[in-house]
Amino acid sequence: MNTRSLLTSSVSRRLLRPVADLIDQRIERRLRSVAAADAASGKALRETAEAVKRQQLTLDLLLGPGGRGLSRIVSPGPLSRLQSEVAELAGDREAAVRNVASAYRLLIGLESLGVGRIAGGTMNICGKLGTIPLLDPPNDEILEIGTLYGMFSTGLIRMMERDGRSPNVTIVDPFAGVQLQPGTPQRSDPTGTPVDERAVRTNLALAGPAGAAARIQRGFSEDPETRAAVSDRRYGVIVVDGDHSAEGVAKDLEWAEQIAAPGGIVVLDDFGDPKWPGIKEALDKHLTGDTRFTYLGKAALSAFLRAS
Ligand SMILES: C[S@@+](CC[C@H](N)C(=O)[O-])C[C@H]1O[C@@H](n2cnc3c(N)ncnc32)[C@H](O)[C@@H]1O
Repeated sequence: MNTRSLLTSSVSRRLLRPVADLIDQRIERRLRSVAAADAASGKALRETAEAVKRQQLTLDLLLGPGGRGLSRIVSPGPLSRLQSEVAELAGDREAAVRNVASAYRLLIGLESLGVGRIAGGTMNICGKLGTIPLLDPPNDEILEIGTLYGMFSTGLIRMMERDGRSPNVTIVDPFAGVQLQPGTPQRSDPTGTPVDERAVRTNLALAGPAGAAARIQRGFSEDPETRAAVSDRRYGVIVVDGDHSAEGVAKDLEWAEQIAAPGGIVVLDDFGDPKWPGIKEALDKHLTGDTRFTYLGKAALSAFLRAS
């Protein structure tokens, strides 16, 4: 009798049945435990996915575009580019990285507590707030031309104070109820907040005594009465962020030539932004003429100049 016949004979089958049953039971037990483990890991995966979705929803409410029009979520490429640009302008990488981080936290804090918003992209705002104190302006007089809700000036007060400075802010804006921009249709702000002096005061109050003491001049920056009212001093910092047309920027730069302190910093917002070609056009033209300003460089969409 060969091995195959031996194994398949009815006697052998009877004798081997208990062994075969034992093997079957073991296989079945193993299959059941694998199926149970699969079900448990599927459940764990579903629970993890739900938890991630809830975290994403929470983060979106805190940092997403809802109620302000733009997301404040940061991506690694733009952040590291901004840190390098600020470091180049400031000549100090460690200080640049620190200031960009603290400007970011300030931006989120201000937009959470204040009324309205700060205009523009996250990297551009952090670049301006982070760089200005590092350029060591020659005095603490700050002029912002075009303020919208006054929240950028509020943040700049904080950033200057963090650097041990005593900022004294002057603001010029027509406060037209909406953001005025030549050639751009007027529409209500994504925050729903009217652009008025009351909103600016509420925001400035978030910056403590220096915010409360800020001087607000209602009017257009090119108007002689507006200029006369605030040309009483030489400014260590001038932020040009009002009329974005080439003509408007050219006029503000001409005015800045007269009121910038020696060594003063001029920040030109939205420089190189394809949405506002007039800004670069006006600066390029201005720098070819007789000027006190030297171009220092840019961070995100802001150009920095220093007056002689
Ligand atoms: C881009 S927003 C300013 C944003 C603000 N600097 C910030 O960082 O949040 C421009 C502001 O300038 C104002 N504006 C427009 N034309 C102006 C002018 N000729 N003089 C002063 N402000 C002007 C607009 O009404 C608006 O409030």
